[in-house]
Amino acid sequence: MKIEFRHEPIAQLSSSALVAYAFEGPPASGGSVERLPGESQSLLQELESAGELSGKAYECTLIHRPPGLVAAKLLVVGAGKKEKFNSAQRRCLAGTAVRYLRSRGVHDLAWIVSGPGSQSDSIQSVVEGALLADYDADRYKTERNGQRQIDRLDLVLASPPGEEAQAAQERARIVAEAQNFTRDLVNEPSNQMTPKLLARHAQDMAKRFGLECQVLGPEEIRALKMEAFWAVAQGSEEPPQLIVVRYAPPGAPETPVIGLVGKGITFDTGGISIKRSENMHEMKTDMAGGATMLGVIQAIAQLRPQLRVTAVVPATENMPSGKAYKPGDVITSMSGKTIEILNTDAEGRLVLADALTYAKQLGCTVLIDAATLTSAITIALGNITTGVFGWPKEWVERVLAAAATAGEKMWALPVDEDYRELYKSSIADLANTGGRYGGAITGAMFVGEFAGDTPWVHLDIAGTRWSNEERPYMAKGPTGHGVRTLVQLLTNLSI
Ligand code: BES
Ligand code: MN
Ligand code: ZN
Repeated sequence: MKIEFRHEPIAQLSSSALVAYAFEGPPASGGSVERLPGESQSLLQELESAGELSGKAYECTLIHRPPGLVAAKLLVVGAGKKEKFNSAQRRCLAGTAVRYLRSRGVHDLAWIVSGPGSQSDSIQSVVEGALLADYDADRYKTERNGQRQIDRLDLVLASPPGEEAQAAQERARIVAEAQNFTRDLVNEPSNQMTPKLLARHAQDMAKRFGLECQVLGPEEIRALKMEAFWAVAQGSEEPPQLIVVRYAPPGAPETPVIGLVGKGITFDTGGISIKRSENMHEMKTDMAGGATMLGVIQAIAQLRPQLRVTAVVPATENMPSGKAYKPGDVITSMSGKTIEILNTDAEGRLVLADALTYAKQLGCTVLIDAATLTSAITIALGNITTGVFGWPKEWVERVLAAAATAGEKMWALPVDEDYRELYKSSIADLANTGGRYGGAITGAMFVGEFAGDTPWVHLDIAGTRWSNEERPYMAKGPTGHGVRTLVQLLTNLSI
């Protein structure tokens, strides 16, 4: 998608489609429709009186040969209630316009950039919305939607663009492309995304963006005494891989070093505690946490904040076999803590345990993990909101603030000493499950045991990693949820 700024009069723009948004109520109640020439505005008034245009969120009204405009078409997108309008909503509106137009054979559009909010904010949300909406998870279809993508997006400004406008556009492209990269990784089936293939994608990305990448194989994992990681990996024919990607710009302060740890289970059968077959295919997405962290560090490599970041992705399958780990097994994690396995399907927390210990050994002073850890989080928050856990509170709040800016829904759940009782083992230090009640919390806190005193934030993205429904602004399938928040957090930190 080619993206360009324009600042000629709106009436003279020659794009195939000009896009404006209207708030709920009569067109006079505002939105970027206010910038249209009078003739077009009167037509919108007529449509509103006839009940054909309400301004309800995501409603699309396409007008051919609009009066007073050179553009061939005018698309009016409903923006919902004016009081609720913000950048997140603008991102969705731009996405809605993109998906609506490209499904009707329109490949170039002009978006009228307008407030509320700063010009940079508007530009960033529109560019992100457009690039995220132009994505489809259809690479295995022989007839791809891709052939119907948007070629060109013009951003119509009231005055010539300054440096800030250019920077906002650049930043939005970097972030949206990183999020789409994460979506691509999550979308791949497990036969195309084995631990080795995931490692290769990480290496290719690192090479492309000038990052350092190191991949450890089975022997090295065993030599490091990562028995928890190894326990999960031992049942599979596919060798596990520990992927480490580093961003360390010259001159960056020694601390903090941010460790981004992502669960990289390329397929989760449940192991000996095998899952039921219904929906098991969805477990190809169980490396979404790892994919999130690779997306984040790809964006960071291009945005170049003065901050050290290390991504650690323990990648393996979780398979049943004659070599698989079994319920009742006791293992010694890299940290020295012993773990009784009560359920081999609670494998995410095991690979994270050793990956967090390793991240600390590599010198990370703040740990952030993302994982499709529990189905319990989906019961609590659905597919809409990511669960956030961690300590100290200040770090959880930083993540929530970044999420609000980035337009991703996240909600903090408690971490509390009292829950520790639930995952005590009678024969080892810890058990790897804490029962059904509070499952997302006990799963998170088990992981937190290995962060120890280090500031730590855990994102449970089991619900948000995937969208089962197509939205007006987003394809069905992998979402890349979490990438924008973490990029926002890390760039906030370097200021
Ligand atoms: N990968 C699953 C969690 C999951 C479920 C992710 C649905 C995405 C969609 C995880 O490894 C798992 O199996 N968790 C178990 C833990 C339980 C055995 C304590 C769960 O949540 O049922
Ligand atoms: Mn599992
Ligand atoms: Zn899993």
